[in-house]
Order: sequence, then C-alpha cells, then structure tokens
Amino acid sequence: MSKPTTMRTHTCGDLGISDVGATVTLCGWVANFRDHGGLIFVDLRDRYGLTQCVFDPAIAPEAHTVAERVRSEWVLQVSGRIRPRPEGMINPKMTTGAIEIEATTLAVLNQSLTPPFEISAESDAGEDLRLKYRYLDLRRPPMRDFYDREGFIDVETPFLTKSTPEGARDFLVPSRVNPGMFFALPQSPQLFKQILMISGFDRYYQIVRCMRDEDLRADRQPEFTQLDVEMACVTAEDVIATTERMIAHVAKAALDLDVPLPMPRMTYDEAMLRYGKDAPDTRFEMLIRDVTALADETDFRVFKQVIQAGGVVRGLCAKGGARLTRKEIDDLTPFAATFGAKGVAWMKIDATGPTGPIAKFFNDDQRRRLLAEFDAGENDLLLFVADTIPVTCRSLAEIRLNVGRKLGLVDEAKFAFTWVVDFPMFDYDEQEKRYVSMHHPFTSPRDEDLDRLESDPLKVRAKAYDVVLNGTELGGGSIRIHRTDVQQRVFNLLGIQEADARVKFGFLLDALAYGAPPHGGIALGMDRCVMLLLGLKNIRDTIAFPKTQKAVCLMTNAPGPVDDRQLQELSIRLAPEVKAAQNAQK
Ligand code: AMO
Ligand code: AMP
Repeated sequence: MSKPTTMRTHTCGDLGISDVGATVTLCGWVANFRDHGGLIFVDLRDRYGLTQCVFDPAIAPEAHTVAERVRSEWVLQVSGRIRPRPEGMINPKMTTGAIEIEATTLAVLNQSLTPPFEISAESDAGEDLRLKYRYLDLRRPPMRDFYDREGFIDVETPFLTKSTPEGARDFLVPSRVNPGMFFALPQSPQLFKQILMISGFDRYYQIVRCMRDEDLRADRQPEFTQLDVEMACVTAEDVIATTERMIAHVAKAALDLDVPLPMPRMTYDEAMLRYGKDAPDTRFEMLIRDVTALADETDFRVFKQVIQAGGVVRGLCAKGGARLTRKEIDDLTPFAATFGAKGVAWMKIDATGPTGPIAKFFNDDQRRRLLAEFDAGENDLLLFVADTIPVTCRSLAEIRLNVGRKLGLVDEAKFAFTWVVDFPMFDYDEQEKRYVSMHHPFTSPRDEDLDRLESDPLKVRAKAYDVVLNGTELGGGSIRIHRTDVQQRVFNLLGIQEADARVKFGFLLDALAYGAPPHGGIALGMDRCVMLLLGLKNIRDTIAFPKTQKAVCLMTNAPGPVDDRQLQELSIRLAPEVKAAQNAQK
C-alpha cells in the first residue's frame, strides 16, 4: 500500500507493471548493489519490499557517479521512471519483480558503517551480535512478517531501561543481580522509537506509560500515558498532517466534534510576543503588544528605568475592562508578582480618554497613539508590565488568562487547536550557566541554521512542533537528528562530553552510524487530551488510580518502606537520618 510523504511518492513494495511510465521517488536502504561495468543496479529496501534501481551513465551521468560510491545499508532517495524489466530479468517471486526504476536523480540521505552481519533473511549471525546490533537485526525481513503490512506497527518498548533525557528526574530501579546498578523507568520511549526507524519499521505507534519525577500540577502526573508515534522519511509537514488527521478523527468519533483542518499555525516567536507563552489559548483575542518605544518617550520613571536597564514594556487591552473594580485591578499586582512582575500599571478609558494614576505621564499625542496601538476605546482597560522579556511574557500571559476569564471572554465550549512551530533549539539556563534543549537533545536543527550551531546557538531554530488545545500543550515532537556528526555537535553544545554521551546514549550513536533514515515523530499526552476534550479541570479525574500532588497513592499508601532484607539483597543502605525517622514512625 502506498505511503507517500514529502520525501517519497511510493514505498519500495508498491510498484508493479501497471505503473510503467510513471515518475516516482523512493527512499530506502541499499540491500544490494552490482556494478556491471557501466550499468549499476541497486536494490532499494524498506519495510514494504525491494525495488531495483538502474543507474545508466548514458541517461543520468551525475546520478551514476554518485551511485558508484554507494555501499550496503546507505540510505538513498532515488527518483526516476518506471520501466518493465527486460525478458529473462523478471523475478516472479518479488512483488516488484517485473519492473525497475530508470534512475534520474540520486540523493544520499545517510551513509552506513559496514554492518557486522549481512542483513538478510538467511543471516546466520550469533545471537549476542544480533542483540547488540538489534536495530540491524530488526531490519531483516523475517522479524517483521508477523506485523500488519498496512499503516503503523504497534511495538512495545521496555520499562526497565536507561535514562532518556526528557527534562525531568528519572525514577530509578535497583538491579539485584547487578549490585550498584540501576535501571531508569522511561520518561518516554524516545530512543527506542528512533531505533525502530533505524531498523526499518517505517511507521510505529504505541500507547505507552511514561514515568517522570517532576513537580506535579493540575495537568501533570508522575505516570501518564502517551500516544507515541514515529515515522521514517518524513518532514515536519508529514507528522503534522498525520497527527491532525488523527485528532480530528478522534474528536469526531468520541464527541461528534468537527475540527477544521488544517489547524492554524503560529511561530514560537509570535506565540511568545502575542500570548506570552508557547501554549497560547486562542479561544479569545486580547493580544499582548510591545509599547517599549512609546513608553520610553513618556515621563513615567518606572517604565523608563526598566527600559534603560534593557527591559521592555508590554501590555494588553481588556475590552470592557473598565468595569473591573479598583480592588480587582489592585489584586492583579500580587497575582503578577507570583510570576516575577514588580508591578502592574493600568489605565481605564472613559469618554475623555485614558484615566488613572499613570495617565498623567502621557501627553495628548502619546495617548492617541497608545489607544491606536491597542485599538482601545471607551470602557476598556489597559494593563502594562515593564520588566525583562521573560518576566513580562510570563506575567502578562497569566494576567491575560485571569482577566479574560473574569470578563467572560473565554468561551468554555470552544475547542481552539493550534500548532506552534519554529521553536528555538536551545534555551540558556542562567542558574546552571549552560545551554539546555527546548525539546530534547535528539531534535534536529533546521538545515539553514546548522552553520551557526556553535557561533550563535540561541538563534538556531529546531524542526520541532507542539500541538496546543485551549492553552495547554497536548503533544510535542520533532524531526530527529539522523547524522552522528550533527548529534555529536548538539551534545557538545549541551555540555555532554563525548565520553559521557557514549556511556548514556552509545547505543543510539552506534545505530545512527548504520544508515539511519531521516525520521521524526510526536507524542500526545492521552490523559491531557481526555481532560481537555471532556472539559475537566484536573488530570486526576481522567486516571482511575492517580497520585496526589505529593506523588503518593492514598489508597495503597505507595510509596512505602521495605524490609531490611529486601534492601540487603539490593545492596542498598538508607541514610541514618532516614532510617531513624522511619523507626520513630513505627
Ligand atoms: P514531551 O516531553 O513534550 O515529548 O511529552 C509529550 C506530551 O506528553 C504529555 N506529558 C504529560 N502528561 C501528564 N503528566 C506529565 N507529567 C506529562 N509530561 C508530558 C504532554 C506532552 O505534550 N519524546 C517526546 C516526544 C517526541 O519528540 O516524539 C516527548 O515525550 O501532553
Ligand atoms: P509607583 O511609582 O511605584 O507607585 O508605581 C506606579 C504604578 O506603576 C503602580 O500601579 C505600580 O503597580 C506600577 N508599576 C510599578 N512597577 C512596575 C513595573 N515594573 N511594570 C508595570 N507597572 C509597574
């Protein structure tokens, strides 16, 4: 069955005699190559089958020159015309055995080290070798014949595994048989699904439990369920299109809700500027505006000092907000203070124009321009925060939601989906004085930004995307790095030294070196989806046996102490003060 993406028109198992004459593009691994002095034959393989490609120097000299360098398990993108194979060359055993591709262009998507064993159904490699190079072993056809030949394959991934850096702390599990060694429970199946793409599964999904030791909030649990997806030979467009089709399908089936497609999109920069956060609630307007230049012209010292220190002045217009009481407005100051803001300046607009304590600092011309900037009129309320960009964004985002709700601007019956794209690759952690990934370290930078990875990391954008519903992130994903050298450069930038990277992710780095196809995916928080689609306020209401804010299960009393014997078997000793506290409880 055809699985076109932006990188291919067909799979390697699709084409037959009825397609002769068509121009196609395929992606796949080099299963075989034969140089017949002049003509080069390459059998291109993916999960769906094999297709023979012919490189003829008389037809496409450039592609032929590239084809001369090609080796086993390299990943290629080949375009050309389908023609019937000559009499006697037809292979009736293969679905695609009657045709071949007369190649016109060839792109090498990735190279591969020489595989440690032959990747074929007949391979007789020993089991230890096959398990070490499991990603290559799984590329062999017999390993996949059980699975559905259509669409995505559901594959389970282990719970006892190594740490995956999704940004939270790991839950650790001590190994009894390997004293002093620990498994980490998965924060997501991220590395395994990438391995599955390297193995040639092409399309994977799994409904899977993830465990993260992080601060809990209304939309977070220490264990939660993801719908986890990964696809090979795709760009961000393919993942976004597939995901929104799935969401629309579920919304229709479960709630008879029509979600118009394509969903709207917004860049990260726009989301931060207009909504103050990367998960914008687009059910209502009340957008944030930057008025730094205008504020700098006025005589208001508070604004001018912040601007002189390198800060900004931003604000928003609450339509009809003049009806809020003085107390309601004053209460916004301590509210915004919890997000770091040092104050909230305001103006009410009446028939005469702006009023309130700071209005006097604006002259007639400045007042006129201010009202025009916010499209503000009688009975509106303007609210301003002056601070650093992060504090201004954070506090105005929350003020916007708070005041929007108070004024009844948020239509609770509405489902407003949006994609947020063009995320930066990195953020700078001021406390730890180092770069951190905005998504995770396996996310690919945009090709056009690769050159400034080292010179200007904060300007590098990622091939990352989030899907947001009513101001909550439903899911996030990215196109991954499929080249070892790029992965190493990103690790370097994140301060993950080569030796450290080998210890933590050696298996991924190894696998990338054996012909990793371009790939990418996404994960959606299922509990969060259910919460939002049903209009629930807390994720606990979507989980049969949830944990409290303090990460305990009140029904079973987990977590609990264990016997000294169990600890001994695990070669673990409790800290004396912990032990003393436990004894006092008994
Ligand atoms: P990410 O960390 O963004 O991406 O997680 C994806 C989605 O999982 C949900 N989620 C949670 N839900 C409840 N409680 C939590 N503690 C919690 N943490 C996350 C959210 C979030 O959008 N491996 C990547 C995905 C990828 O790149 O394909 C990942 O896990 O809805
Ligand atoms: P003050 O001059 O400190 O009395 O402040 C005058 C008004 O400006 C008050 O409404 C304060 O809440 C507000 N204000 C103070 N600091 C800031 C700030 N950083 N951003 C926005 N408003 C502020």
